[in-house]
Amino acid sequence: MAHLDVSEPEPPCASDGVWLSCIACGERFAPFEEVRYTCDCGGLLEVRYADLPTWDAFEGRGVWRYADALPFDIGVSLPEGATPLHDVPRLEREVGVDRLRVKHEGMNPTGSFKDRGMTVGVRVAQEVGVDRLACASTGNTSAALAAYGARAGLETLVLLPQGKVAAGKVAQAACHGARILEVDGNFDTCLDIVQALAARGEVYLLNSLNPFRLEGQKTIGLEILEQFRAEEGTYPDRIVLPVGNAGNTAALYKCFRELVAAGALDDDELPALTGVQAEGAAPVVEAIEDGLEETRRWEDVETKATAIRIGNPVNAPKALPGIRETGGTAVAVTDEAIRSTQRALAEEGVGVEPASAASVAGLRKLRERGVVSADERVVCLTTGHLLKDPDAAVEAGTEPEPVPGTTEGVLERL
Ligand SMILES: Cc1ncc(COP(=O)(O)O)c(C=O)c1O
Ligand SMILES: [Zn+2]
Repeated sequence: MAHLDVSEPEPPCASDGVWLSCIACGERFAPFEEVRYTCDCGGLLEVRYADLPTWDAFEGRGVWRYADALPFDIGVSLPEGATPLHDVPRLEREVGVDRLRVKHEGMNPTGSFKDRGMTVGVRVAQEVGVDRLACASTGNTSAALAAYGARAGLETLVLLPQGKVAAGKVAQAACHGARILEVDGNFDTCLDIVQALAARGEVYLLNSLNPFRLEGQKTIGLEILEQFRAEEGTYPDRIVLPVGNAGNTAALYKCFRELVAAGALDDDELPALTGVQAEGAAPVVEAIEDGLEETRRWEDVETKATAIRIGNPVNAPKALPGIRETGGTAVAVTDEAIRSTQRALAEEGVGVEPASAASVAGLRKLRERGVVSADERVVCLTTGHLLKDPDAAVEAGTEPEPVPGTTEGVLERL
């Protein structure tokens, strides 16, 4: 099994103490001299550093507060990160855990966590000197790529599964000026195609297969730990998150391992990484439940939570060990549970898109099953903003009532 040992002392071919390492065979590569997404053996790459920082190295706000844990001091920034860690007292009581906080990544510049990865990824694109950026997307990656690409003055190309992307996300990609290709196929087909384009040198790939994206996203973990410790006096026992390509799961695990290697976190302080998928797209849940080394590709996937409508999670080899080694688990929830939880979060003022509500829906299910105990302190990650998917929001919300255009008429209805 792939194991993220991040305590390698010897940089092989590092520029400024940064290199890429294959998680399968250990082969190392210089980070910016050539464009490379995977190892020749087919293994996933991850970014390694000669020096890993401890807490007192961090200063400033947002993603770039953590520059000492990233390959650059600053990137193309809008700026991103520094998202709220909400209290949700009614849900906390209803779910029945000691503490429940919601880390709302929908409060990033383009309304999802993808901005954290893109600020770093687009900086790397500038470093390697490419001019056309591309991604396959269930929507949010395309919105973030379009915005950050536009900011950097680079051409952007996005491949979307036709008819399966929420309206807000397509609108963002369009208005930020991306070239949008609507593919007759699902997300996994889009990713196959854009990987083939990248292999031919046509585009620079900014999906989470690109290991630099995950470097930006690992700052979610750094922020959660710092915020929770400052406000609760301890670290959370568990972090629950929606899983699509499993990029965030991999990024959080890498964050934890690097902190442990730096001596900034004890092994027994690792929050249990707990992934949630929709029942109609749950290859990671299947792999965890059946003890598989790898996920099986699901050809037919379906869920109203279109952001996580993914059957072949590319980061599974990095994420499965993270779930297992932190004592976490994975669980699937119905679209109906996702919708009612989206509404419950909204009724506490926290507006999230359907995929995001999956995290809290999953926590509720695990609590009911007794997998999560009543004394746990939990952070649920909500990954995207309510307005990303206006159609789902309307469906989950109250019905507008037509009334006459007079005060008397309105009073009568009340
Ligand atoms: C709102 C939202 N939540 C969750 C995910 C899944 O994230 P990951 O691929 O890191 O598992 C995505 C990815 O597209 C997303 O847009
Ligand atoms: Zn390899």
